[in-house]
Amino acid sequence: MSQLEEKFEFTDENRNEADSCIAKYPEGREQSAVMPILYIAQRQNGGWLSQSAMQYVADYLSMPPIKVYEVATFYTMYNLDSVGEYHIQLCRTTPCWLRGANSISSAIKEHLGIENGETTDDGKFTLSEVECLGACVNAPMVQINDDFYEDLNADRVRSILDMLISGDQPKSGSQSERFTSAPESGPTTLIDEGKSKC
Ligand code: FES
Repeated sequence: MSQLEEKFEFTDENRNEADSCIAKYPEGREQSAVMPILYIAQRQNGGWLSQSAMQYVADYLSMPPIKVYEVATFYTMYNLDSVGEYHIQLCRTTPCWLRGANSISSAIKEHLGIENGETTDDGKFTLSEVECLGACVNAPMVQINDDFYEDLNADRVRSILDMLISGDQPKSGSQSERFTSAPESGPTTLIDEGKSKC
């Protein structure tokens, strides 16, 4: 948390979003909304939580700041240092590793000239190697900001990076032809869905 701290305050839009998160919890339990509210703060703050943003969340929820820090430092979805415009989180847990995460890692590092934990000189990309992101069935995969890119190989990840470099938005989800996480040869169950007369 070495960056110059700027005063943090929700935009009107994010204040509305935060208030609708709080409204999901019973009266007196507003602090239960701390996780989504931290995430909204992180998104507004360019992908990381400054001290000022965490203090703001603590004040917003009338919580002791230490309780907010406990949450923010426990979950890896919160970044406590600045990240690039595109934060690449590369899953390296067993299913992704068995399906080629190492080659995805090498392709990203060579293509962008950075190592794990580093940001490109132009501030565009940060690479973080992380544990399972819950998309193992379409391994290997990366998360870039809020989007998952699955069924990767070295060429596919390079082409995703090239699109982002050119300012285009790559299609998220499976990068093979499969439908969501159905078998690559096509669905084998529920193929009569919609035909039932029941
Ligand atoms: S092991 Fe990579 S998403 Fe679960």
